[in-house]
Amino acid sequence: MKWALILGASGAIGQKISYDLAKSGWSLYLQGNQHLDQLQKNAADWRCQFPKQDFLIIAADFNQTDCISKIVESIFSIDALIAAQGITDYRLFSQVPKAKFDQLLNVNLKVPLLLIQQLQEKLAQSQNGRIVLIGSVYGKRGSAMEVIYSTLKGALSAFAQAYAQEVASLGITVNVIAPGAVNTPMLAQFSAANKEQLRAQIPMGRLAEGEDISYWVHALLSPQAQYLTGQTLYITGGWLE
Ligand SMILES: NC(=O)c1ccc[n+]([C@@H]2O[C@H](COP(=O)([O-])OP(=O)(O)OC[C@H]3O[C@@H](n4cnc5c(N)ncnc54)[C@H](OP(=O)(O)O)[C@@H]3O)[C@@H](O)[C@H]2O)c1
Repeated sequence: MKWALILGASGAIGQKISYDLAKSGWSLYLQGNQHLDQLQKNAADWRCQFPKQDFLIIAADFNQTDCISKIVESIFSIDALIAAQGITDYRLFSQVPKAKFDQLLNVNLKVPLLLIQQLQEKLAQSQNGRIVLIGSVYGKRGSAMEVIYSTLKGALSAFAQAYAQEVASLGITVNVIAPGAVNTPMLAQFSAANKEQLRAQIPMGRLAEGEDISYWVHALLSPQAQYLTGQTLYITGGWLE
């Protein structure tokens, strides 16, 4: 049985990725923080739909020091790690309090990388290990008012380039899927008019939906994707390219 750990499985994009992998026969470790009810509901539905697979829920807050051990202790076998968690913060860089900086760092970068360190050996046992990090086009282009978020998303791409070289011989690939604007609650602070302005800037004429992102995560998990590593794929509908 193939096992994937989905960080941020309770989020909009994480739920779509999880469901698509469940449909393809994966068993899943589903990590969430505040929206565990949603995870319980999904896991219950999928246990009925896919009775030969397992769906285990892991509750972990990446701002708590025990979060890494909590996750690592729950994992017995793992073939893929997908980091679909994330938070942002809208204000000028000069006004970001240190505590908020620490939260952005923990959730978007530090905890996922520390987890990868701890899980490398188990991923190597798969011989076809996969790490997929959800980045952002802002990691390439940068966004005013989201300077730290942009910095950390860019760091994910640098990490993938460097770390991919260390683990290629272990059969592990490391890539970033970097969305543009996705139609999820993360964009909830945008007014309808602002969303329309955004849409008008996207050559494809629409925001991405969860499936536009999930498709590429799924593709990277196939054994045939073994030769693609260290890359960032920008899934933006042509926006900011
Ligand atoms: N939406 C977009 O337009 C867009 C564009 C580019 C990139 N992205 C990236 O795509 C990924 C998913 O975004 P989304 O739109 O699906 O966001 P979302 O719906 O807000 O989901 C965020 C996920 O992160 C988890 N999370 C937040 N804080 C956490 C913490 N302290 N500890 C542990 N987990 C925590 C949440 O868990 P709980 O809900 O259980 O607390 C949730 O599962 C993120 O990396 C985001 O940066 C999104």
